[in-house]
Amino acid sequence: MEQQRLDKIIASTGKWSRREAKELARLGLVTVDGRAVCSVEEKFDPEAARIFVNGEALFYRRYTWIMLNKPAGYLSATEDGRGKTVLDLLPRELRRQELFPVGRLDKDTEGLLLLTNEGGLAHALLSPKRHVDKVYYVRTVGRLTEEDRRAFAAGMSLEDGLQCLPAGLEILAAGEESEAQVTLREGKFHQVKRMLAARGKPVTYLERIKMGNLPLDRGLSRGAFRFLTEEEIAELRVLV
Ligand code: URA
Repeated sequence: MEQQRLDKIIASTGKWSRREAKELARLGLVTVDGRAVCSVEEKFDPEAARIFVNGEALFYRRYTWIMLNKPAGYLSATEDGRGKTVLDLLPRELRRQELFPVGRLDKDTEGLLLLTNEGGLAHALLSPKRHVDKVYYVRTVGRLTEEDRRAFAAGMSLEDGLQCLPAGLEILAAGEESEAQVTLREGKFHQVKRMLAARGKPVTYLERIKMGNLPLDRGLSRGAFRFLTEEEIAELRVLV
């Protein structure tokens, strides 16, 4: 692989900033192939070099995969002239990595959002042909019923022209306000809201809780993120 500056390689892990990398190297705490490297301007092949930072082996990944617990109020976009985007929730080192959201959540939707710079796998996961399940927790105005569940399961045709694949509606609580879990095998614009509005049960709250076999990590507070593990990334690959 092409050689890169040592501080860039270290910062790409998201664990240390470039400034911290420089300071650690100055203190002799960064070694490459057994040699202490004091200047982070030196370049190495990140896939071939054995790098230790502060005694910890650096595990270089060509691509970054992040799970974010998206809060309401942020756009699933990489830039927006007016509002905050989900990238504003990441540290500067990660913002430099050309990450983009894997699919979109509405501005007011919360929960699981993946971000990556691995275009191939991201696009495969989003492809309409793959039917990767997305699971949402939803609250609605009005009582959800067995009829609603059957309409979802049959595949709804909306008046606005949207033809939906069969979807899951598991009713968790039914009353003046209802709660449910919705499982979609596709991801059309505002789809959950449109399907429930068509049933006369407008959505008051929406949270994505699962994508494929990857559940939202409940250890992440709203607005927090973590890197996906190697196993989690491998499971995403299996889906496509
Ligand atoms: N469906 C919606 O209506 N909004 C989302 O953000 C995701 C799915």
